[in-house]
Amino acid sequence: MTTLLGDPVTRTRAYFDGEWRAAPRTFEVFYPGTLESIGAVADCTADDARRAIDAAEVALKEWRKVGPYQRGQILRKWHDLMFEHKEELARLMTLEMGKPISETRGEVHYAASFIEWCSEEAGRISGERISMRMGNKRGFTASEPVGIVYAVTPWNFPAGMITRKAAPALAAGCVMILKPAEQSPMTALYLAELWLEAGGPADTFQVLPTNDAAALTAPFMEDERVRKLTFTGSTAVGRLLYTQAAKTIKRVSLELGGHAPFLIFADADLERAAREVVGSKFRNAGQTCISTNRVYVQREVADEFTRILTEKTARLRLGDPLQDDTGVGPVVEQAGLDKVRAHVEDALSRGARATVGGRVEEGLYFQPTVLTDVAPDSLILREETFGPVAPVVVFDTEEEGLRLANDSEYGLAAYAYTRDLSRAWRVAEALEYGIVGINDGVPSAGAPHVPFGGMKNSGVGREGGHWGLDEYLETKFISMGV
Ligand code: SIN
Repeated sequence: MTTLLGDPVTRTRAYFDGEWRAAPRTFEVFYPGTLESIGAVADCTADDARRAIDAAEVALKEWRKVGPYQRGQILRKWHDLMFEHKEELARLMTLEMGKPISETRGEVHYAASFIEWCSEEAGRISGERISMRMGNKRGFTASEPVGIVYAVTPWNFPAGMITRKAAPALAAGCVMILKPAEQSPMTALYLAELWLEAGGPADTFQVLPTNDAAALTAPFMEDERVRKLTFTGSTAVGRLLYTQAAKTIKRVSLELGGHAPFLIFADADLERAAREVVGSKFRNAGQTCISTNRVYVQREVADEFTRILTEKTARLRLGDPLQDDTGVGPVVEQAGLDKVRAHVEDALSRGARATVGGRVEEGLYFQPTVLTDVAPDSLILREETFGPVAPVVVFDTEEEGLRLANDSEYGLAAYAYTRDLSRAWRVAEALEYGIVGINDGVPSAGAPHVPFGGMKNSGVGREGGHWGLDEYLETKFISMGV
């Protein structure tokens, strides 16, 4: 067994029905940096899912009775434990999915911030007194937990995408059963360990890794007791789950694909804009739903901006994600690398030019790349690349820039750089996206309290802040005759 993980026995069992359970079948998790195995994890089945739902039903009855203030205190302890284990958590995330260690350390802060925010907000969950038109009636609302939640999370933020769902769910008095991504199940199991250590009651947060997502998911979709589905991942899978969830009319939150445009107007601070494009595009090797996927630059400054962007991109250090000074690591797996390569080859075959990068290196490493002269019908301008490639396209007028930026089935995040205040407002209002960064390439950074989510085929609902908490609460209207 590999020594990469330190202690390979831990974090390899599933947690459900009150116990850490080994399974007859396991599946391997690979470190994208070297393609070595870091351990084999329990491969849960549909029967395990049914047991978890039964256990969740029991746990929910008790957990919803725990006062919101006490729920907040347990969440606070969970947050603190994440910091006590910061280095191990960061290293584990890097081993599972190859994000540079400097970024996974940041992710511990990001992930913990959702728990902290919800720990404070739990005690503020309340209802309203409503004035009634009829004098002989009194009206109230009460906020109640939605119930059992089934969560499906991605590998690109192995901790952050879990806590952004679990913290508000648990704060609201819901219980959660989580299917983590098969690339990063150990981080999820580690979070469950810490939740129990913090005093989280048995079966309030169960984690069932699997290599057969469809088989594990089916019982949740069919079961009336599971009242909510929350999913972060591709639009194709989100669409399927949305259909399946309709059968039992579950509440749904879907955070799906993006195809973020970044508009740079001629009046922009080009140095700053290029720095932010690099931050937005190349963090996590471009494997972030809100990563810039298309760079649109106004003709007057196109050459100068491309030169600065190329220089900054060339300075990024591609390499071993466990090293402190690595800026860009590998992509997560071969299929991801194949897609990046296909997008670049397609663009080059239609006349594009790589001003830096453009090639695969050994293993799963793709050079940070800037493409210019990208033809309008190129794949990279239509589909999410999820890799370290920035295609630059020139536009002439604000109207044209906005038309190009909005010409997508997706509507998650969009960015614009300008010094003109009126333009900033016009553009912010015209962009058909759930998140708009004006002179800000990373709007979600350090912000557990803001709404995160998309329009169009990018999803349904919002995570973060009170918007994210509301997704786990039912509003009950109580009318009382006097
Ligand atoms: C995501 O990829 O959906 C998460 C990005 C973020 O929270 O910044």
